[in-house]
Amino acid sequence: MKKRILILGGTGDASALTAQVSCLSGIEVITSLAGRTKNPLSPDGIVRIGGFGGVEGLVQYLRDEKINVLIDATHPYAAQISENAAAATQICHIPHLMFVRPVWEKLPGDDWIGVDRVETAAMVLSEFAKRVFLTVGRQQLAAFANLDHIWFLMRLIDPPAPDALLPPGEILSARGPFHLVDERKILREYGIDTLVSKNSGGNATYGKIIAARELGIKVVMVQRPPTPDVEKVSDIEGALEWLRKNGI
Ligand SMILES: NC(=O)c1ccc[n+]([C@@H]2O[C@H](COP(=O)([O-])OP(=O)(O)OC[C@H]3O[C@@H](n4cnc5c(N)ncnc54)[C@H](OP(=O)(O)O)[C@@H]3O)[C@@H](O)[C@H]2O)c1
Repeated sequence: MKKRILILGGTGDASALTAQVSCLSGIEVITSLAGRTKNPLSPDGIVRIGGFGGVEGLVQYLRDEKINVLIDATHPYAAQISENAAAATQICHIPHLMFVRPVWEKLPGDDWIGVDRVETAAMVLSEFAKRVFLTVGRQQLAAFANLDHIWFLMRLIDPPAPDALLPPGEILSARGPFHLVDERKILREYGIDTLVSKNSGGNATYGKIIAARELGIKVVMVQRPPTPDVEKVSDIEGALEWLRKNGI
């Protein structure tokens, strides 16, 4: 009987991992997406979409679908689903791995202010920023909505809901990966003095960090939330090795 692997996705890493794991023999891969974006880039294999209904719902799903192992390859800032996955796999005694890409490290020339959460980013901005490139995603724009003395360029995959609380500025609809040459152009053309970013890691969105360094633009960097205390790898080879160790 085929072994069933659940990959919690929503990232380029998850899609790349799914493509590799799907090549292994004797296994079936199911990718789970939260359903936040309207036209998600669907990875290979079986895809299910939507929340499970907390830890209880995920436990039920793992049992109903006879999942043998779970790999959490969600975004480093998707803290809730990662906590739920850790709890549910412990209850079901299912091997569980987190795929965590390395953080971006501050390099010479970077002018970063580290903050613990998006709300703190909004607080520090009001001290110095005038024109901000906001790249924290659609779900957290409300934190900036009362900063009416600052102009924001908000880059989003999907437009915000019609009743969403937004700061003043302009929406830029785009999906990564983003290239350095275009990031440079955006920062220059819009006269950006501050970039707000999550420390996502990886190459797909690193261009804006390089461009900010080159142009001497301040970066308010929202630090990652804590992760559950589970086995972790930072690349696909590590994940494949972990699967082998777990008999897949
Ligand atoms: N947060 C970011 O900055 C960011 C950036 C890029 C991509 N993403 C992707 O977008 C998704 C949502 O992110 P988030 O920050 O809203 O997550 P979150 O706060 O950790 O999760 C909130 C709830 O959304 C559902 N959920 C999240 N990821 C899921 C998945 N892969 N499959 C099924 N249900 C999922 C779960 O609902 P139930 O409790 O009902 O199961 C979870 O409790 C994640 O899958 C993540 O990989 C997030």
